[in-house]
Amino acid sequence: MAEKWTPESWRSKPIVQVPDYPDQKALADVESRLASYPPLVFAGEARKLKAQLADVSEGRGFLLQGGDCAESFAEHHADHIRDFFRAFLQMAVALTYGAQQPVVKVGRIAGQFAKPRSSNIEKKGDIELPSYRGDIINGIDFTAESRIPDPERQVKAYRQSAATLNLLRAFAQGGFANLDHVHQWMLGFVKDSPQGHRYQEVADRISDALSFMRACGIDPDTAPQLRSTDFFTSHEALLLGYEQALTRIDSTTGECYATSGHMLWIGDRTRQIDHAHVEFFRGIKNPIGLKCGPSLDPEELIRLIDVLNPENEAGRLTLITRFGHDKVFEHLPAMVRAVEREGKKVVWSCDPMHGNTITANGYKTRPFERILREVESFFAVHRAEGTHAGGVHVEMTGRDVTECTGGAHALSAEELGDRYHTHCDPRLNADQALELAFTIAENLRKESDSRIAVNN
Ligand code: PEP
Ligand code: CO
Repeated sequence: MAEKWTPESWRSKPIVQVPDYPDQKALADVESRLASYPPLVFAGEARKLKAQLADVSEGRGFLLQGGDCAESFAEHHADHIRDFFRAFLQMAVALTYGAQQPVVKVGRIAGQFAKPRSSNIEKKGDIELPSYRGDIINGIDFTAESRIPDPERQVKAYRQSAATLNLLRAFAQGGFANLDHVHQWMLGFVKDSPQGHRYQEVADRISDALSFMRACGIDPDTAPQLRSTDFFTSHEALLLGYEQALTRIDSTTGECYATSGHMLWIGDRTRQIDHAHVEFFRGIKNPIGLKCGPSLDPEELIRLIDVLNPENEAGRLTLITRFGHDKVFEHLPAMVRAVEREGKKVVWSCDPMHGNTITANGYKTRPFERILREVESFFAVHRAEGTHAGGVHVEMTGRDVTECTGGAHALSAEELGDRYHTHCDPRLNADQALELAFTIAENLRKESDSRIAVNN
């Protein structure tokens, strides 16, 4: 029998990656204030996402999850949110076309503020300071004062999440997501990309499909699905005091939901089975993700699945694999086989970012070709195993940043300094994100063609 779960039962477990708050009373005060604030999302929405992910786990959909590595207080502008959403929607359209299936849209946004760090200390010259842990915890400036964890930042993160979510809901439902607009943006991208000829065919086919539907009387004016979309939020639930404060009992089911975002995930550094993060996650009813890196043994993964999804509910658990471009074949087949052998229902999603970080010219970066290779290897393994490559998880922005090298514009290491804005890991810029989506669309096309061949 599992021990009784409560929203605070994680507090008696070992925990890693937690900030050292100097003023515990101030922290408790913030947590109790947060506990009295309105939820950011509604449990019914989390259930709707779970149902969509259940379809993905059964091979009838594809998950697109993406956004900043770390949201920041300084960059909280409507234009950034709009540009992100514009790039994200274009990716989703390319993927919908490639998969010939619905694409479930989940942003790493409106709550993605807390960062696990590989070292507690950051060193510059002779000076050592505590590491930056995300704007919800401390400041990025390299001063002793800014690095002190400040609980008031949690309230600021909550308010920023609420404002971001409000604008995203307006964009998703208020006309911005109109398929005709998204398609026009995409044609602009194809025209301007040095590799545009590679994407032209897909873009043309989408144009043809839209013209055909319009001729049949189906267009954004007549079909609400073509002028609005479902969009969900997600983040790594690292700061458990904050998450607990926003965990609420859903009045319609009597069950506990985290209301800081629709989907939460456990990071690769905090997935120890007997630790606090796994304890917190096992009790909330949201759809959840688990990052799976090269150090995760397949049998340990099965034990984690038993704890996190004991009822084997479809849509509950997304496994987000992140091995590195040259390690996918070494690790993924064994994991897939263990999960298949045990009959576990999961969504398989590929994070091609976190195993592919290198340093070049003094900057943390990710070569675009390695990101592509990890995704393509992920698809190849799932094709070979007969399982569904269910999604991707990317760090991206809608802006023209210079953080990942390569891509159609062949961004060089020397150019990284031009517009390197990330608060944590390097993100794909809008063009790189779309290029990736077109490549994935080609892979999905292969999967759907082989499905059609089998069905015939
Ligand atoms: C992240 O998604 O930003 C992250 C830290 O990932 P991981 O836990 O996989 O390292
Ligand atoms: Co990251």
